[in-house]
Amino acid sequence: MKQIVLAILSNAGGVGKTTLAVHIAYSMGKRGFKVALLDLDPQRSLDVFCGLQPAEVDSTLTKVLSKDFQGDWTSVPVWEESKIEVVQGHPQLAEIANELVIRKRGEYALADRLKSYPLPHHFIILDCPATLGMLNTNALAAATHVLVPVQLEMKAISGSAELIEWCITTADELQLDPKPTILGFVPSMYDEKVAMHRQYLEQLPEIAENLQVKLYPKVRSSNEFKNASAYGQPLQKYRPKHPAAKDFKPIVDDLAALLKDKKTKKEK
Ligand SMILES: Nc1ncnc2c1ncn2[C@@H]1O[C@H](COP(=O)(O)OP(=O)(O)OP(=O)(O)O)[C@@H](O)[C@H]1O
Ligand SMILES: [Mg+2]
Repeated sequence: MKQIVLAILSNAGGVGKTTLAVHIAYSMGKRGFKVALLDLDPQRSLDVFCGLQPAEVDSTLTKVLSKDFQGDWTSVPVWEESKIEVVQGHPQLAEIANELVIRKRGEYALADRLKSYPLPHHFIILDCPATLGMLNTNALAAATHVLVPVQLEMKAISGSAELIEWCITTADELQLDPKPTILGFVPSMYDEKVAMHRQYLEQLPEIAENLQVKLYPKVRSSNEFKNASAYGQPLQKYRPKHPAAKDFKPIVDDLAALLKDKKTKKEK
């Protein structure tokens, strides 16, 4: 089965990676796709955003990346949605990351797992930590597509250009074939009352064009995102009528079209 593996990457913390991951996951699940959310973050943010209890280390992605993994993935359904499952993270992912540095094919550990022991889902989302270390390199090597949230602050803007360069150089160095497609930038946490946000939003089209990266419409800032995650839910479930719940639609439309395209190509 053809799959999309989407890595949500950024080289800055707190820019909305996990938020993007859970909201895309929820919408894709609602559209009938089987979705797996993989938590590559040692801080296990997905546990909070999905309302999960912390898992024992052997039931997490740490086990998947460990040397002795035999294909026994542990995934848990979330939000009473049978189509969305989470492979939980664990603080020991940080230790595994160090071990991967010296392990043979360390950069390809996750890609190798997904190849040797495929997950049955149509769509896999990798929620990544903020630092561009071994875990993010693994995410890139396993990904078919990359999505980059961009906070409309000075550092994040220049950082996102650096991130695109990192993706291209790393994909070259790892000789990824095919290379993951950069799906686009997603301006996150946009507050129209903040002058800097308005200014950076105006500059982004040119930056994206120079980097030849698609620019998605902004995701607006709203405290309801924080309230929803306090209840371990995406906004679409917590406040379905909230206008910001629709902000992810253009991304989800693209992803659904990509999956349908893959299906039709296979049928032909
Ligand atoms: N559009 C938004 N409006 C308001 N708050 C938001 C929005 N998106 C995310 N947040 C909040 O900002 C904080 C950081 O978001 P999130 O955890 O998604 O970022 P991250 O990039 O995954 O962070 P980390 O680098 O720690 O993994 C969270 O408290 C989240 O609820
Ligand atoms: Mg996160």
